[in-house]
Amino acid sequence: MRNSLIRELIRLPGMPLWMKALPHTMVRRACLLALTEHAKAVTRANVPGAFVECGVAEGGSALLLAKLRTQLDPSREVWLFDTFEGLPPPSSDDADYDTAVQWIGLCRGELADIQRLMTRHNEPRVRYVKGLYQETMPAGPLPASIAVLHLDADWYDSTMTCLRHLWPRVSPGGRVQFDDYGAWAGCFKAVQEFFGPQAHIHQIEPKGAIWIEKTS
Ligand SMILES: C[S@@+](CC[C@H](N)C(=O)[O-])C[C@H]1O[C@@H](n2cnc3c(N)ncnc32)[C@H](O)[C@@H]1O
Repeated sequence: MRNSLIRELIRLPGMPLWMKALPHTMVRRACLLALTEHAKAVTRANVPGAFVECGVAEGGSALLLAKLRTQLDPSREVWLFDTFEGLPPPSSDDADYDTAVQWIGLCRGELADIQRLMTRHNEPRVRYVKGLYQETMPAGPLPASIAVLHLDADWYDSTMTCLRHLWPRVSPGGRVQFDDYGAWAGCFKAVQEFFGPQAHIHQIEPKGAIWIEKTS
């Protein structure tokens, strides 16, 4: 009922882009608004690079990134990385392992369904990389440069793998948003280890998502 009402509302002219994500996403409104602001900020500042998401599930926040690309700068690429088979197992680096294991296979979005969603919304120009990050990222292909990176992959290994391979490709002035910093212990640990305690973290929600800008 709630979703069918939202589907009707988002067809109305003038509805903000982030609302189009709502029927297909677990990402909260504040985080969708933050992604929107990142896309606008990098466009204003002419930061080069793609809009990239690691952690697609049913494709809602990915759809927002694709829509923002088309509205703000159609020359940018959109890249989406996922198993498209749901969450892989966590590891002993996830302190909340006992809870995390219950999520294995959940947050599943089929690649064909995401492609249909994008086509329905006139966003066919998207690059998909299917598989475990630990396998697909070392092998490539990877975007040459990144302006906005949405990291929504929950676990320590997943987040750390994305950071190792993609952070060097983030352009100066680019922004990385971590959906799970306050939600999953592994994401928090990966961010702390990778950036160190001095990292300048921008809080999106109290005890929730954060973003970091690459300054140089
Ligand atoms: C919380 S969901 C993403 C939610 C999504 N952004 C939305 O709009 O609702 C997490 C996603 O990360 C993916 N994922 C997590 N770790 C992964 C890994 N190591 N390799 C590939 N995909 C991974 C899962 O398959 C799942 O689709």
